[in-house]
Amino acid sequence: ATDGIDGVARVAPPSADETRSLPAGTVLVGFLAPLSDAEGVARLQAQGVVAFAMESIPRITRAQSMDALSSQATVAGYKAVLIAADRVPKMFPLLMTAAGTVAPARALVLGAGVAGLQAIATARRLGAVVSAFDVRPAVREQVESLGASFLDLGITVEEAEGGYAKELTPEQQAAQQAALEERIPDFDVVITTALVPGRPAPRLIPASSVERMRPGSAIVDLAAETGGNCELTRPGEEVVAHGVTIVGLTNLPSLMASDASRLYARNVQAFLELIAPQGALELDWDDEIVTGACVA
Ligand code: NAI
Repeated sequence: ATDGIDGVARVAPPSADETRSLPAGTVLVGFLAPLSDAEGVARLQAQGVVAFAMESIPRITRAQSMDALSSQATVAGYKAVLIAADRVPKMFPLLMTAAGTVAPARALVLGAGVAGLQAIATARRLGAVVSAFDVRPAVREQVESLGASFLDLGITVEEAEGGYAKELTPEQQAAQQAALEERIPDFDVVITTALVPGRPAPRLIPASSVERMRPGSAIVDLAAETGGNCELTRPGEEVVAHGVTIVGLTNLPSLMASDASRLYARNVQAFLELIAPQGALELDWDDEIVTGACVA
């Protein structure tokens, strides 16, 4: 599922036009969005294509080298901070100069999975004071080990299978929004990465919270592709609302195409070495990676 110069890392499934001509028995490997593109998967199935979705590869130790969700999330988390740093009219580090002291930027990272942890590390390296929040309590230690403080909003959920978060109840979601609304005016930069697989992105920042932020602040919404964590995010666009820049770009790994491609290529290569160990296809239907990744 590659797409010329910028699409090597895109997360959209290949278009119907790209896959319609594949003959029965073809093996297709790529980001196929099986949880959101049921129609596309059904079409591949009807064509007799054997389709492996990179995002369905189980996140087990043996499959770590094939984990394209993680490799691309790492790139996106890094790039999100660079974009935020570029948009705010402030420097990130604390500076003591003859002309006075520059206070460090304050950054908040919402959702501390792979992308969020990389965003924390990157913002810290640039010198920001970083806080983070996630509904999975296990994340607190990881956040603190990166030198960020854990923002306690008093909301936790159990982990679902595979270590993913479960969706909040409407009551929990309202409580989370209210707690965040109190805290959010403290921050110059907010990076949001909260996702629940197969569901629309959880709404963390309503318009009323954006209104309370300082003009000149920036939100980079990595969940834009599935609707956004911020109510005012426009997927694929960058907008300014209440003086706050809200970046909803959906192709961040493509903006770091060299490393994103290299990492993705290694993920695919590792998967190919599993399904074609001697260079010829050898599909082992007793292998949980093969069965887990196969969507048609
Ligand atoms: P993700 O991209 O599905 O979600 C990002 C983060 O958003 C998660 O940390 C999730 O807890 C959080 N989130 C969901 N709803 C939220 C809400 N309402 N408010 C705040 N945060 C919210 O997650 P990702 O980055 O793909 O990682 C998911 C899990 O998979 C993690 O436990 C991670 O440690 C695990 N993992 C395991 C790997 C392995 O064993 N090979 C590799 C990579 C990740």
